[in-house]
Amino acid sequence: MKYQSKKSFLRSCTYRGCYGEDATTMAKGVSSTSRSVPVVLLCLGALLFANVLIYLYIESLYQTSETHVAIHGDCPPGHFKMGTMKNCSPWLQCPAVRSEVRRLKMIGQGAVKKVFLSEWKGHKVAVSQLSTPEYQEDFLHGLSMLQALQGPHVVLLVGLCLEDHTFVTEYQPLGSLLNLDSVLGQEKYRKLDTWQTRLRLALEYVSALHFLHNSPAGTRVMCDSNDLAKTLSQFLLTSDFHLVVNDLDALPRADRARGQLVKCGSRELQGDFVAPEQLWPHSKEGAPFSDELMLGYDEKTDVWKIPDVAHFLLGRVPGGDVAHFHLFQIHGECKRTDPAQRPSARDVLGVYRTVYANMMKDNPSPGSRDML
Ligand SMILES: Nc1ncnc2c1ncn2[C@@H]1O[C@H](COP(=O)(O)OP(=O)(O)O)[C@@H](O)[C@H]1O
Ligand SMILES: [Mg+2]
Repeated sequence: MKYQSKKSFLRSCTYRGCYGEDATTMAKGVSSTSRSVPVVLLCLGALLFANVLIYLYIESLYQTSETHVAIHGDCPPGHFKMGTMKNCSPWLQCPAVRSEVRRLKMIGQGAVKKVFLSEWKGHKVAVSQLSTPEYQEDFLHGLSMLQALQGPHVVLLVGLCLEDHTFVTEYQPLGSLLNLDSVLGQEKYRKLDTWQTRLRLALEYVSALHFLHNSPAGTRVMCDSNDLAKTLSQFLLTSDFHLVVNDLDALPRADRARGQLVKCGSRELQGDFVAPEQLWPHSKEGAPFSDELMLGYDEKTDVWKIPDVAHFLLGRVPGGDVAHFHLFQIHGECKRTDPAQRPSARDVLGVYRTVYANMMKDNPSPGSRDML
């Protein structure tokens, strides 16, 4: 609408205001000609001004959509865009996955999947393949979650072939979050080893949990996180030092209000890392482990783990202790024995955002050592 009105203003100036008046005054003699010169100049100026306005308006429209695409990598559902790709492409299907994706080397093997660094049309991708038929259900669940939860918190899905139990995601050369300390220890990244980078990653971790707990697929709890290393291995560190969830194979749905609780069902559930409600409740009686006898729990079990993950992510950089100090109270609340008394991921995220914003306001420059 704005654009149209500017255009019509331009037209009226061009045909009625400027040239029309100019022709009439020419016929009336030299004195009126000299009077008409400023009018012509005024019209030309207005014309130029209107052109500049239209140009700026169109440019701003263009830039707004560009920024949006750049930040969110927005594509319609079922499409992807990565690296230097100009347009969104539909997820690759079996024929393209089989013929266009070339496996280079194995880069990871967990219980459920083998992961291969691969190449597709000059882009590095990761091919995940079911390791053993025993885990087919987990594999398919993980893939359906990947499809449902695409967005800034989750690794980019590039293609899938259900028949071959294979899917393709964007390759992240820095690997899993487990590598954080060794990556930041490298000479070329050492400048980034600051509380600013680390606190932002911790904030993104809480933000990812908040997303999973309030996802389009309901409240999702991260099982397969029964020790710190396991938890970190489910996230990837992107090349621009953000964090995305990668492994969604064990992501059951909890809804306490509807009596729908989860049981991650692992014998290894013990130690300080897992929440008290996740521990095998009959260990004292020496009763053999059974999934059925476990107590059900919900997403608050993820909240219990936040302080441990944050501790790892913050590391021991100068300024990290200040962040710990500001997060001390909320971390204490995350460790309450009664899950109902723990804050939600949303509450924790709110505190993290405030702490991050205040610390950045006070001391935005990386590497500052006089924090205390
Ligand atoms: N897209 C990727 N880019 C880089 N490394 C990856 C990628 N996907 C998986 N990996 C590596 O493979 C490991 C295992 O992947 P994961 O999906 O967790 O498999 P599993 O279900 O078998 O645990 C990850 O911890 C990571 O090191
Ligand atoms: Mg895994």
